[in-house]
Amino acid sequence: MSADTRIIDGKAFAEGLRTRIAAVAADFEAKAGRKAGLAVVLVGEDPASQVYVRNKGKQTVAAGMESFEHKLPADASEADLLAVVEQLNADPAVDGILVQLPLPAHMNEQKVIATINPDKDVDGFHVVNVGRLATGLPGFVPCTPLGCVMLLKDRLGSLSGLDAVVIGRSNIVGKPMAQLLIAESCTVTVAHSRTKDLADVVRRADIVVAAVGRPEMVKGDWIKPGATVIDVGINRVPRTDQGAEEGKTRLVGDVDFASAAEVAGAITPVPGGVGPMTIAVLLRNTIVAAHRSAGLALDESAL
Ligand code: GUN
Repeated sequence: MSADTRIIDGKAFAEGLRTRIAAVAADFEAKAGRKAGLAVVLVGEDPASQVYVRNKGKQTVAAGMESFEHKLPADASEADLLAVVEQLNADPAVDGILVQLPLPAHMNEQKVIATINPDKDVDGFHVVNVGRLATGLPGFVPCTPLGCVMLLKDRLGSLSGLDAVVIGRSNIVGKPMAQLLIAESCTVTVAHSRTKDLADVVRRADIVVAAVGRPEMVKGDWIKPGATVIDVGINRVPRTDQGAEEGKTRLVGDVDFASAAEVAGAITPVPGGVGPMTIAVLLRNTIVAAHRSAGLALDESAL
């Protein structure tokens, strides 16, 4: 196999998904007499969060859906935020609600997430949706891990019986990723910062999902030849290449791409791998929520 075909092009896959979603969104509008709506709530002025929220808004509109943005100052009270969430819960034009994380330290994230109506929780963070995922009931699944599974199934077909290692145990990626892989009949190991002999654990895996937030931690000689590597990390590091201007940075994943790409059967790059999938899956979850709330049928597996 040439080096190019090993690279999983998440950007192209996400574009295709957004095109399918736009067709479904147009059909929804024709049937329901309104556009599907996604509300995003941003508290404070974290620059990375502002970029995410702007991109979400643009892509929501481009897919033919309504985008609602609510911005609160960093010193807003938790009660102010909960009032916004309650208002969105009650608004029939809003199918999906996303409260951008992280929240300022004086707010209780779990309490805020628990206030979102689980049937509008397109992030899949509410405990009701976490429980639905764990028990195999229909609900909403966190966007980044669902995007990873879509890329894996697109590349490998059935995942049944494969050995998967998930590095990282966060609520947003590691834990839901493990649940999704169990549902696909993988044998799943969840590794984390206290795991002994991590390299040996990773070497047994047919599928490696790295979501630890440590730049280039997973090395090529940890990868079983032919394994599929999904890199969820987005780390900004100083450029060290010759001729780079001082202060310039570059994005790297949690996987040392150059060495891992030599061994892997398939691998996601950073940028252009998992990253573009997150917003595309958010739009998918929103159009699914809209159909469910309007009582309209939708073949969710075709999205
Ligand atoms: N912050 C970074 N990623 C996400 C995400 O997927 N959802 C929310 N709500 N906040 C985030």
